[in-house]
Amino acid sequence: MIDFKKEIARVLSGAVEGLSADEIQEILEIPADTKLGDYAFPCFRLAKLMRKAPQAIAAQVAESVAGEAMFSKVESVGAYVNMFMDRGEFGRHTLTAVAAEKDEFGRSDLGKGKLAIVEFSSPNIAKPFHIGHIRSTVIGNSIYKIYDFLGYQTVRINHLGDYGTQFGKMITAYRRWGNRQDVEQSPIKTLLSYYVKFHEEAEKDPSLEEEARATFARLENGEKEEKELWQWFRDESLKEFMRVYDMLGIEFDSYAGESFYSDKMQRVLDELSDKGLLKESAGAQIVDLEEYKLPPALITKSDGSSLYITRDIAAAIYRKEHYNFHKNIYVVASQQNLHFQQWFKVVEMMGYDWAKDCVHVPFGLVSLEEGTMSTRHGRVVFLEDVLKRAVEQTRQIIHEKSISKGRLSEEEMEETAKMVGIGAVMFNELSNAKIKDYTFAWGKVLNFEGETGPYVQYTHARAAAVLRSAEESLQAVLADPAGADMSYIGSDSAYQLLRLIYRFPQAVVDAGEKYEPSVITRHVVDIAQSFNKFYHDEHILVDDEAEKRAKLLLTYAAKQTIKNGLALLGIAAPERM
Ligand code: ARG
Repeated sequence: MIDFKKEIARVLSGAVEGLSADEIQEILEIPADTKLGDYAFPCFRLAKLMRKAPQAIAAQVAESVAGEAMFSKVESVGAYVNMFMDRGEFGRHTLTAVAAEKDEFGRSDLGKGKLAIVEFSSPNIAKPFHIGHIRSTVIGNSIYKIYDFLGYQTVRINHLGDYGTQFGKMITAYRRWGNRQDVEQSPIKTLLSYYVKFHEEAEKDPSLEEEARATFARLENGEKEEKELWQWFRDESLKEFMRVYDMLGIEFDSYAGESFYSDKMQRVLDELSDKGLLKESAGAQIVDLEEYKLPPALITKSDGSSLYITRDIAAAIYRKEHYNFHKNIYVVASQQNLHFQQWFKVVEMMGYDWAKDCVHVPFGLVSLEEGTMSTRHGRVVFLEDVLKRAVEQTRQIIHEKSISKGRLSEEEMEETAKMVGIGAVMFNELSNAKIKDYTFAWGKVLNFEGETGPYVQYTHARAAAVLRSAEESLQAVLADPAGADMSYIGSDSAYQLLRLIYRFPQAVVDAGEKYEPSVITRHVVDIAQSFNKFYHDEHILVDDEAEKRAKLLLTYAAKQTIKNGLALLGIAAPERM
């Protein structure tokens, strides 16, 4: 698709002195008020270069580019050249591109030949996959999809928290109070109850902590009995996690969690020590980061057991050697900011210049209307329960609103309730700038009228219904989109919609650069609102065939763009609701 901004910069560069097309592109503006044109070129910088008043330059430039076919009007206002696109030309370019590219509309090859790792979700084994994990899971999945769409080769890694002293606690608790049957019946809830009990008991009897530490040390040494229990906890937990991933439609390329690096730690320790970075401190080994105003990185504990941070360093080195990433992205809560700053710095001190390619993408906290969560106290909300409840409530809403009364079979209704309920929870996660803390509120998530998932999905289904009712005309115009009479879609509401569709590929680029799926979320909401306005303002299914075809083509493009946007969020776009 033509990049109009670039094209305009090229044309303007022929009409001015002293600025390159690239420089012009930088200063080209998109006025908020469309009365000032679709693009505006401020001439202040040229005044010096051309030794003329900016107003005079603007007038001169306006005159010399006014004849370009892509403009319907060019005028100078003060020091600005305001350019109005020819809506017909603009429409033809945009709509033929969407009709040709379909599900690929918005895809680019920016990342060609480069590999991006996206690490996300990474729950802890034997602990609940709770509502707090949903952010990493849903945001990470979307970032992966965006990078894939930008043409990167991608690897999705679930860095499972399947190692560490907590397994010493879990095994200790299981041995003292556990029962195999209970674990098999409801693994995570049972294991969690052991964990809670461990902390209660350890308050009374601190020697339990000691026992747990020793147990973990045996696990690290590969003792058979500990290893088997650990493996069993891991397998059972993973089964539960998989159920949630299935519901969300999320997959991973690798489940190499923390334990995967247990045999890759010695090398890190040796390397750190060879490079003179390790220091002894009260029996523990640290890397001093004082120079960088950071607390020291604790590499091994005084009992010799390895730590979270060390496993992250080992994992990064492994990933560089194994995948040769261009970017290594970590979607992890902002509570871990310091952790990432510390170990990125350690990797840099080790002399690895790819430290700069490691990116921590933090996000804010989720709280519940009922108050905060605490794993240790067993106060958690399980994600699986949230998703089930969302589907359940959506089913009810669909019934009540009787949106689909008589239109959907029972089976389709069930399918739709899933798409919409789960989509609503995901969309909600991706709606705010990710760094903001937020409170999960049911009333907001499932609202069909607000800027929500159900609203966007419903708009998509509405556009689909329009297209279905004029199948023949639609096929005719899709066979020759360039031949459509664009003069029928020159109204303000049609043009607003067109502009948003045109900008979608740029929104994908912006979202990728900022690691911010909410850019896409915002954009699909804008398109949905704009389509609904167009739908409300104008008759699409008119008698005049040429007019109908042009409007169907625009409807088709709006629907397709919403679908592609939702796909990048990991959300389904139902044809009927
Ligand atoms: N398992 C950790 C948690 O639930 C998150 C892991 C983040 N990833 C990493 N490479 N440290 O808090």
